[in-house]
Amino acid sequence: MDVAVRLDRNGILAGQIYRQLRDAVLDGRLRPDEALPSSRDLAEQLQVSRNTVTTAYERLVAEGYLTGRPGSGTFVNALPLAEPTAPMLPSGPLTPRAVWPSIPVPPDFGNAPEFDFRVGAPDTRLFPYAAWRRLLGNQFRPTAVGTGMPVEPAGHFRLRTLIARHLGTARSIRANPQDVLMTCGVQQALDLVGRVLLEPGATAAIENPGYEPAKLVWEAQGARVTGVPVDEEGLIVDALPANARLVYVTPSHQYPTGVALSLRRRVELLAWARRHDAAIVEDDYDSEFRYTRQQLEPLHSLDRSGRVLYVGSFSKVLLPTLRLGFLIHPPSLRHALHAAKFVTDWHTNLPLQAAMADFLEQGMFTRHLRRVRRVYRQRHERIAAALAGPLSAYVRVVPSAAGLHLSAMVRGATAADALVRARAAGVVVASFPEIAAAAPDPPGVIFGYGLIDAHRIDEGMARLHHCLATG
Ligand SMILES: Cc1ncc(COP(=O)(O)O)c(C=O)c1O
Repeated sequence: MDVAVRLDRNGILAGQIYRQLRDAVLDGRLRPDEALPSSRDLAEQLQVSRNTVTTAYERLVAEGYLTGRPGSGTFVNALPLAEPTAPMLPSGPLTPRAVWPSIPVPPDFGNAPEFDFRVGAPDTRLFPYAAWRRLLGNQFRPTAVGTGMPVEPAGHFRLRTLIARHLGTARSIRANPQDVLMTCGVQQALDLVGRVLLEPGATAAIENPGYEPAKLVWEAQGARVTGVPVDEEGLIVDALPANARLVYVTPSHQYPTGVALSLRRRVELLAWARRHDAAIVEDDYDSEFRYTRQQLEPLHSLDRSGRVLYVGSFSKVLLPTLRLGFLIHPPSLRHALHAAKFVTDWHTNLPLQAAMADFLEQGMFTRHLRRVRRVYRQRHERIAAALAGPLSAYVRVVPSAAGLHLSAMVRGATAADALVRARAAGVVVASFPEIAAAAPDPPGVIFGYGLIDAHRIDEGMARLHHCLATG
C-alpha cells in the first residue's frame, strides 16, 4: 500500500519517517496487519536512501509498532489499545519554539531482545551495588557533606581533585581541580559548552556518522550543526566548515565507527582551531575500556593554546542512570561555565558526588574498572572473531581495540534488509546514526556488547549470519 509521508529536507529524515508512520499506526490510519511498502519502494517514493527508511522501520519494529516477517515484508502490529488514540495534534494557546518538534524524545530502553547487541549501555549486573549502598548510605547523616547546604556550582571539591589526579595518571591530562566541573553526564557538559560558546545561529561541527545527542543539544540551542565526514584516520580536518565555532570529536574511539583520530589529524585539528579561533570538545567516552597498550595522547594534553574542553562520564563504567560526568575547561571559561551551571540546576547531586569521591579515594573505582574491563574484553574478542569468520562475507569490521561496541560496514544493499529480518528473529543491532541529510554509504552497523553475555555471542552472530545468508 502507499503511505503518505512528507519530508522536510532540513531535518533528520529517518526521524521524520519514523514519527509519521508511528502517528499513522497510533491514530488508526495504518491498520493491524496492513503491509508497509518495502524499504526499497518507500525510499524510491521519498527519494531518500534505503538506509534511511530501514532505520525508521527498525525503530518502529523495536518499539512494537511493526513486525518484520521474514520473506514477506513489514506489517502493522495490533496495539494493545481499546480505541485508536487521537493524533497528537498541537492544541492550546502555547506553542514551543519551532525547533522542538524535530527533536526526538528517546523511548524507554524497553525489554531485552533474545540477542541484545544494542549500544550505549553497560552491563548493570556488574555494578558494585553493595559498595554503593554503603557509600551513599554514609552520606545520609546530619554530619555528612553530601546533605549540607548547596555548594558551589562546579561541584564537590574533593571529587574534582580526585578526578584531576585520576586523569593525570590514566590519561596524562594536566588539570587543576578548579577547572573540573561536575555535570549530569556528558550531555549536560555539551549543553553548558553550547550555552557559553555558541551565539544563536553559530555553526558547530560534529563527526558524521557521529554522536547524535551532541547535534540535538546544540540545534535546540539555535546553532547550525554540520556533519563532517570521518575516514580511517578519524575526522577529516580539511572538511571542517571555516565558520565553525565549536568542533565536537571523539578522538580515542570515534563514535560510532571506533577508529582512533591519528596523531597527524590531532595536530592538524589543533592547528585548525587556532587558525579559525574555534573551540574543540573532546569526548573521551569509553577510553577506560582499552584492550591494547597502544594509546594516543588526548587532544587535551597536546593542546598548548587552551582551546580544548574535555568531557568524560561515569555512565559506562558505572551506570548511565547515575547521570554523573565532568567537564575540564580552560580557566578563561571558568566563570561563564560556573554561571551557566548555576542557572541550569545550581549543582549536580551532592550526596552522589561525595559517594563517588569515596569510591575513587578508596581504590574501588580502579578495582571495579579492572574487573569490568576483563569481562568486556572477552565479549569484544568474541564479536571480533565472529565478524572475521563467515560474517565477513556480508560486513567489513572496522578495527578497534576500545569501548563497548564494534562497528562494521555492510556489504551489499540487501544486507540492510537482512538486519531488519534479524531483528524479527531476536537479534538486535543498531545502525549508524545519521548526522547529515545523506546517510552513510555503505551503511554501518554497531555491535554493542554492554548487554550480551560472552557465551550468547556466538549463537547470536550465527543467527545473524543465517539471516544475511538467506536474504
Ligand atoms: C559518544 C558518547 N559520549 C558520551 C556518552 C555518555 O553520555 P552521558 O554521560 O550523557 O550518559 C555516550 C554514551 O553512550 C556516548 O556514546
